[in-house]
Amino acid sequence: MSARPGPGRAARRVLPEAPVGSLDGYLAAGGGAAIRRARSIGPDATIDEVTAAGLRGRGGGGFPTGRKWRTVRDAPGSRRFVVVNGAEGEPGTFKDRAILRADAYQVVEGAAVAALAVGARDVYVGLKRSFVRECDALRTAAQEMAAAGMLGDLDVTIVQGPPEYLFGEEKALLEVVEGKDPLPRVLPPYQHGLFATAPQLGWTSSEPEPGEPRGEAANPTLVNNVETLAHVTWLLSHGVDSFRALGTSASPGTTVFTVSGDVTRPGVHELPLGTPLRALVEVHGGGMRPGRRVKMVCSGVANPVLPGDRLDTPMDHESLAAAGSGLGSAGFVVYDDEVCALAVARLFSRFLFVESCGQCPPCKLQSGAVTEALEEIERTGDASGLARIERALRTVTDGSRCALAAEEQQVVGSILRRFPEDVVAHEEGRCRLRHDLQIPLLADLTDTGFVLDARQGHKRPDWTYGT
Ligand SMILES: Cc1cc2nc3c(=O)[nH]c(=O)nc-3n(C[C@H](O)[C@H](O)[C@H](O)COP(=O)(O)O)c2cc1C
Ligand code: SF4
Repeated sequence: MSARPGPGRAARRVLPEAPVGSLDGYLAAGGGAAIRRARSIGPDATIDEVTAAGLRGRGGGGFPTGRKWRTVRDAPGSRRFVVVNGAEGEPGTFKDRAILRADAYQVVEGAAVAALAVGARDVYVGLKRSFVRECDALRTAAQEMAAAGMLGDLDVTIVQGPPEYLFGEEKALLEVVEGKDPLPRVLPPYQHGLFATAPQLGWTSSEPEPGEPRGEAANPTLVNNVETLAHVTWLLSHGVDSFRALGTSASPGTTVFTVSGDVTRPGVHELPLGTPLRALVEVHGGGMRPGRRVKMVCSGVANPVLPGDRLDTPMDHESLAAAGSGLGSAGFVVYDDEVCALAVARLFSRFLFVESCGQCPPCKLQSGAVTEALEEIERTGDASGLARIERALRTVTDGSRCALAAEEQQVVGSILRRFPEDVVAHEEGRCRLRHDLQIPLLADLTDTGFVLDARQGHKRPDWTYGT
């Protein structure tokens, strides 16, 4: 049984206190042990170890990492790739950039372990073009490690991608690595990987046998989040038992939480999974301004929101799901009781509508219809659009290729269900709460806190920008 963490106990595994500034510094602190161990035990035992540790992906879905690695290793195909997801586009999340700024070496080492495990010779790392510091840190780390012979014959390529939210969606990420727009493809990366030539539709949609008998390659590809790979490095260096010593049995280890919004000290903190949300908000986040209380906490825009009376919920996958929400990528945006819930619903809906790529018409059309109806209720108090919203949320996910449409359904649906009084206040013309909200897309973390992405508010649904 793993230890339940007490409130507020910080743990440093992937987010060192002082940045690791050189390969020498990294090696002096024990770096390099993970790839040495993976080479000594071999691919199968490496996958077994990651599976036994119970590591779950930190990119948002929490998928078991060992199981994903096994699937890619066993998928038919003669060439495999590893893609590191550093797009970090979830509102309220800054953890991947914090990790890369603090120690990019561990991410490169984790990617090298993953490549060895699944049998890949090429690693691609996708980062937003705007992540200049992180990109430099990563490039330096990869070059130094390659020059020191730590990567063997592994090729590491950094791909600088667009600002779109979908860049981080794994099937869209592969498109960007191939030089295209971030439009999610049909099949998942383990079935239709990088530079695959096999068709994606019909009975021939994946490579039928290893060895490409028709000259068609499926190129099974592993996509893992930056933070996931940092934990891989830690767990292979320290062992399964040490990894499981923190966190819960089903969500073991630590994770890097981001807390932003109406807390007095927004920031990034590595804590054991299972730490109560209250510790993040009140201890690490500094709590609310005097006289204010928490109205709701949003786990990015990807999950149903949590009302302020659920702060004692442990932050792990199971507990947050039981409370009706989810961990997502562990970025929590806190809103206080001066904020109108309808404004939050409209803000998030508009973000998802704008970022939807439109390949699946119900996603773009219905998220647009929801946004419009929410704007109308907010502006006029005429709540007759609620029925339209309900209908649109039922069908927004029809035929969807990716999870963005489900996010619209979950986050908007949950806000309207949990805060009906804010809609009534608009109907009765007496809402005096705050509506001047900006989407919490975190562009930078400075000594004074987070800088929000000011351009996003001017983004149009065709991904151009107004002024
Ligand atoms: C709309 C959308 C945006 C996403 N953005 C990100 C992102 O910025 N970074 C990320 O790691 N995963 C993101 N994901 C999740 C990825 O598709 C994928 O599940 C993840 O990279 C897998 O890595 P993991 O198993 O290590 O968590 C996003 C998913 C969706 C649906
Ligand atoms: S569900 Fe939405 S965002 Fe995802 S591929 Fe379809 S249209 Fe694009």
